[in-house]
Amino acid sequence: MSYTGRFRVWRGDDDGGELRDFDVEVNEGEVVLDVLHRLQATQTPDLAVRWNCKAGKCGSCSAEINGRPRLLCMTRMSVFTPDEVVTITPMRTFPVIRDLVTDVSFNYTKAREVPSFTPPADLAPGEYRMQQMDVERSQEFRKCIECFLCQNTCHVVRDHDENKEAFSGPRYLMRVAELEMHPLDVVDRVPAAQEEHGLGLCNITKCCTDVCPEHIQITDNALIPMKERVADRRYDPLVWLGRTISRR
Ligand code: SF4
Ligand code: F3S
Ligand code: FES
Repeated sequence: MSYTGRFRVWRGDDDGGELRDFDVEVNEGEVVLDVLHRLQATQTPDLAVRWNCKAGKCGSCSAEINGRPRLLCMTRMSVFTPDEVVTITPMRTFPVIRDLVTDVSFNYTKAREVPSFTPPADLAPGEYRMQQMDVERSQEFRKCIECFLCQNTCHVVRDHDENKEAFSGPRYLMRVAELEMHPLDVVDRVPAAQEEHGLGLCNITKCCTDVCPEHIQITDNALIPMKERVADRRYDPLVWLGRTISRR
């Protein structure tokens, strides 16, 4: 079945912009990105939209559809009724470059702030041995396609630019957790999680988990276990005693 769909697409740049209305043909089996490509081909050749794989794996096509953060290539047109106006806007947490393309360099900055995997100095590559259970735990986090939808959604930085300095966001707190849980990593990442990456600002609302296209249990499997490790350190009487004595 084909029909003429009604779309509102945000057009503009870092100086400002507005929603514009378009009527675009929609065909059976299409996703929102197909419609945007048709819009580019027939009415707005200069419409900026970032994409690569069209298979939900490169993480490039993140945007907001009817206010919900989603991948353009994985959102089927069949989830909307033919008479529904579909509104497509850029991710709100990052500065707009043009139209649907945002500057996501905040995330690269945060990625660089996490020290890389550090195995014991006397362990040569090829000598790494891990329990399957430990492999599986980090495997879930490594499904991340870096779409930054979780970073875009978290209320700590959404509409709060002032928190960006102190908060790495769910994606990079998850990276800290992944490395902290790694049995061969020798860096103590618990203090940095709280003090440098802003774990304490997360109040486990789980919005990040809700929008993750890879269905990673970011909150339950990464953020909460990390918070537990921070709490254990703080309230463990032996740790408290050790700290008190060392301060004297
Ligand atoms: Fe995207 Fe999920 Fe990775 Fe966040 S954790 S960047 S939502 S794939
Ligand atoms: Fe933000 Fe996710 Fe925590 S949405 S507040 S990082 S649970
Ligand atoms: Fe690669 Fe959508 S184009 S995830």
